[in-house]
Amino acid sequence: MNIGFPVQETIQQRYSVRTYDAKPVNETIRQDILNYAKTLTNPLGPHTRFQFIDVTTSDQGQKLGTYGFIKGASLFLGSTIPDEPGALEALGYEYEQLILYMTSLGLGTCWLGGTFNRSAFASAMEIREGDLFPILSPVGYPAAKKRIGEDFFRRALKANQRKPWDKLFFAEDFSFPLTKEAAELYQYPLEMLRLAPSAVNNQPWRVLLKDGIYHFLLYRFTGESSSSIDMQRIDLGIAICHFHLAALEAGLTGHFEKLSLTADILPKNTSYIISWIPA
Ligand SMILES: Cc1cc2nc3c(=O)[nH]c(=O)nc-3n(C[C@H](O)[C@H](O)[C@H](O)COP(=O)(O)O)c2cc1C
Repeated sequence: MNIGFPVQETIQQRYSVRTYDAKPVNETIRQDILNYAKTLTNPLGPHTRFQFIDVTTSDQGQKLGTYGFIKGASLFLGSTIPDEPGALEALGYEYEQLILYMTSLGLGTCWLGGTFNRSAFASAMEIREGDLFPILSPVGYPAAKKRIGEDFFRRALKANQRKPWDKLFFAEDFSFPLTKEAAELYQYPLEMLRLAPSAVNNQPWRVLLKDGIYHFLLYRFTGESSSSIDMQRIDLGIAICHFHLAALEAGLTGHFEKLSLTADILPKNTSYIISWIPA
């Protein structure tokens, strides 16, 4: 796979942009983004479809709002996916790769799973029967300065911080943290995973290295999500995307597989997603 951007630099560059410049994203760049989207694949589920919604030309116009969370954006990228097993994880993976690609083009983005007028945006999109419409992002040039409210929101979410290694990565069982030294060549993909964005910066991903295999797990702070759009499953897809792109870039070979990990080795509130089997 030709990733098309430097992984570490782009992951470190990306942040949620909530204030945009008035400069429009031209048609050539929009087409380039859609062409890149067509090349996306993922190990988790079905494919995501992406559509631009231009607020300046949409019939829904004024109704296409984000409750004041996003300022100055006139272009949004909506995503839909068939409601099949693994769909939300797959969408997280593919949309994050596209977000990183857009970041490498100098564009700003912000994952939006909650703070937008969902019904108005849904009317402005083409949604096939049986598809989910989980996520949207503004796409545009970041304004030179963030708003005061935006800084406040970032501080409340501790958006610049991530949990340390010993809270996220484990070796053999959950009593032992996986050290950077023990992760050897996998230190880099795991560190890139650790920098992933997540809804309300919850960071629900956990990785267990057992018998040489990396198992990706979802740790829920609360019980099962009752919503059809479970943001934490999207978070897992994003994290797996970071891990995989970094592994590919570093030339680490292996493959993803769904194994039958027995529930007795998983701590409470943890569910199994997929495993990476190094070659
Ligand atoms: C699945 C998902 C849903 C999100 N939904 C929203 C949202 O509705 N509104 C918002 O302002 N930010 C949203 N975010 C952005 C997160 O708050 C942000 O990624 C996190 O605080 C880390 O900050 P960073 O992206 O700047 O690194 C979402 C992020 C993810 C991954």
